Amino acid sequence: MPATKTVKDYIRTIKDFPHEGIMFRDVTTLFADPRGFRIAIDQMLHPYAGQRIDKVVGLEARGFILGGAIAHQLSVGFVPVRKKGKLPAAVISEDYQLEYGEAVVEIHDDAIQPGEKILVVDDLLATGGTAAAGIRLIERLGGEILSCAFIIDLPDLGGRARLETMGMDVHALCAFDGL
Ligand code: PRP
Ligand code: MG
Repeated sequence: MPATKTVKDYIRTIKDFPHEGIMFRDVTTLFADPRGFRIAIDQMLHPYAGQRIDKVVGLEARGFILGGAIAHQLSVGFVPVRKKGKLPAAVISEDYQLEYGEAVVEIHDDAIQPGEKILVVDDLLATGGTAAAGIRLIERLGGEILSCAFIIDLPDLGGRARLETMGMDVHALCAFDGL
């Protein structure tokens, strides 16, 4: 009998996408599989059993898919952190560094109340720039971040160390070496 597949086994790797030398970790194959998607959501939630979570914040775009499912499972609200110009009401913004240049993420300024316990969710932690910008937005609104949950950690890019330096608790379901 074959060994039971783990979350990592459902992730597809595409060589040289979007640039030569990058191994793209594609979670669409995990999301598309009914068992894979369910065990990923269950395992992301596992460390927080019994802990208070008031809202889930998902980071655009794949963090929306995971964060929506996690918020539904917890029966709490979901809040999107979006790329600049997508949210219709009043926002606050944070810049972050990309491989080439800068990007901006935003959150509605009334989406989180001071003291709310927040779980931050995204698919992948690389340099940590995206998550760090999302964390700054949440903290500016007075949210208290319980933890940051990812499917994949790329430890060689330093994101976990960066978030832990900010005082964050970080969980990932699996890691890949290299870029
Ligand atoms: C990817 C990934 C994370 C982020 C991680 O998103 O989904 O959100 O990069 O990188 P970092 O830790 O170095 O910030 P991307 O910016 O490609 O956008 P998308 O999710 O909207 O496709
Ligand atoms: Mg992303």
